[in-house]
Amino acid sequence: MSDEVSPEQIKKEIQSRRTFAIISHPDAGKTTLTEKLLLYGNAIHMAGSVRARRNQKNTTSDWMKMERERGISITSTVMQFPYGDHIINLLDTPGHQDFSEDTYRTLMAADAAVMVLDAAKGVEPQTVKLFEVCKQRGIPVFTFINKMDRPALDAIGLLDQVENVLGMQAVPMNWPIGDGDSFMGVFDRKTENVYLYDRTSHNQSISPETITTIDDPRIEDRLTSYQFDDLHTNIGLLDELAQYDYDALMAGQQTAVYFGSALTNFGVQLFLDDFVQLAPVPDAYESNQGEIEPAEAPFSGFVFKIQANMNPKHRDSVAYMRICSGRFTRNMQVNHSRSGRMLKLSRPYAFFADAREVVDEAWAGDIIGLPGNKLYTIGDTLSVQNDLRFNTIPRFAPEHFARLINIDISKQKNFTKGVTQLETEGAMQVFYEADAFRRDPILAVVGVLQYEVVIARIEDEYGVKTRLDRLPHQLARWIDGPEEEVEALPWRYGMLRTKDADGRLVALFSSAHELSYYSEKYPNINFRDTV
Ligand code: G4P
Repeated sequence: MSDEVSPEQIKKEIQSRRTFAIISHPDAGKTTLTEKLLLYGNAIHMAGSVRARRNQKNTTSDWMKMERERGISITSTVMQFPYGDHIINLLDTPGHQDFSEDTYRTLMAADAAVMVLDAAKGVEPQTVKLFEVCKQRGIPVFTFINKMDRPALDAIGLLDQVENVLGMQAVPMNWPIGDGDSFMGVFDRKTENVYLYDRTSHNQSISPETITTIDDPRIEDRLTSYQFDDLHTNIGLLDELAQYDYDALMAGQQTAVYFGSALTNFGVQLFLDDFVQLAPVPDAYESNQGEIEPAEAPFSGFVFKIQANMNPKHRDSVAYMRICSGRFTRNMQVNHSRSGRMLKLSRPYAFFADAREVVDEAWAGDIIGLPGNKLYTIGDTLSVQNDLRFNTIPRFAPEHFARLINIDISKQKNFTKGVTQLETEGAMQVFYEADAFRRDPILAVVGVLQYEVVIARIEDEYGVKTRLDRLPHQLARWIDGPEEEVEALPWRYGMLRTKDADGRLVALFSSAHELSYYSEKYPNINFRDTV
């Protein structure tokens, strides 16, 4: 692959990228919408493929089966597809609240988020959690209010919910005409066109016959007089509702709201056409060397996710890297900043809807998979520059602690391998009791569902049955300070003395009260909540 590319080409490639994460409460229609977006990108040819792919995966692993049974998606996946002049990178996020840490990492790799809401349910608990994560990340959020073909909550009420619960101004970019059986389509605010929903054609693409005006007699015919009056009143009121403001959308103060029905493929193309225009191009990332501009700096990126054993027959492990700047080419020599080693990236993958393929080049905004190297951990920076580090992936403070006991001692080696791998993937943090004879790992997690995943995966992928002994502790703090004072801490009274995988001292506390008591009593000691 030639290295000769002009700065104009680099800019053009990067500006065509739209990288977003899709978030929702389970069942709101994230998978269905993803599938329809992929259809528009010609990335799949048949509705049902994404679901089929998930089901196929589910049969290969009990861990995936758990995901299916619970109706949740635990792992994040990445899909790239072209749309018009754009290249879209879609990052799926885990759907369960216990995985907010994983979701956060995925959002760190995205420039925007698309939030899917169920029109009959509005803002659900999981949406609130995910939204908080988006807010911390400070990225623009687009909202797709789904399932308008079913009885829905009142549109104004839905917008109010978004505003009140999520605390951002909800700006309807289009307005639904009816809902459920009387759902007729949407009124587009910008063009003032009405796009009619045609139940038979499933709106695979927008045909001229389906574009009309609000005065079309078909609308009056289909709606009750109450619905018809209501529609006209609401459309009259739209000018008094929040007006779309590009800067406010980019700053996460507004969310652009679209109504539609993913299952019947209505409103998806309207959304996608707007989205590619409005969604941000890859943005600069903060690093130890200042802001890294995507089109100006040479290649750099960071690992935001590691996934192993997707196929249990081959112990494969893939590190997902978000490219932050420049152009990536296959066989490139890059600096792995944490180890200081030079690595040759010879088998990078790009991810498509139903395949992963070796890629020769990729650009800022893209996500590539790096297989097979156990050196990577979450947060690692890879770059052609020396000593560049992105500080993008903070760890969340764990709230639950439990000893993981290996029941079958003859499989100790596999047990250790499994624990180490899952820790590398960021499935949990691992501490070891410092003074104890027993070396059972203590697993520290943000949400308890993570335990089920770890136990299921260790059994499934490493053939080891384990048991969990929950501990009463609630907080972990990395300790450092003068040695005598650290030794003098009342370790035996409630505080558990442990070490992390790198041998650093970590104290586990049973309550916030206990922690504040000791931190006041020992002012020379640092009790840090992250490393
Ligand atoms: P998720 O990924 O957010 O968890 O949701 P998913 O897309 O799996 O959708 C959840 C359920 O809602 C599915 O039904 C799906 O068919 C349905 N659904 C999604 N979008 C729409 C829509 O616009 N209108 C209607 N009426 N239904 C929608 P299911 O019965 O659980 O699964 P399946 O039997 O359809 O596979």
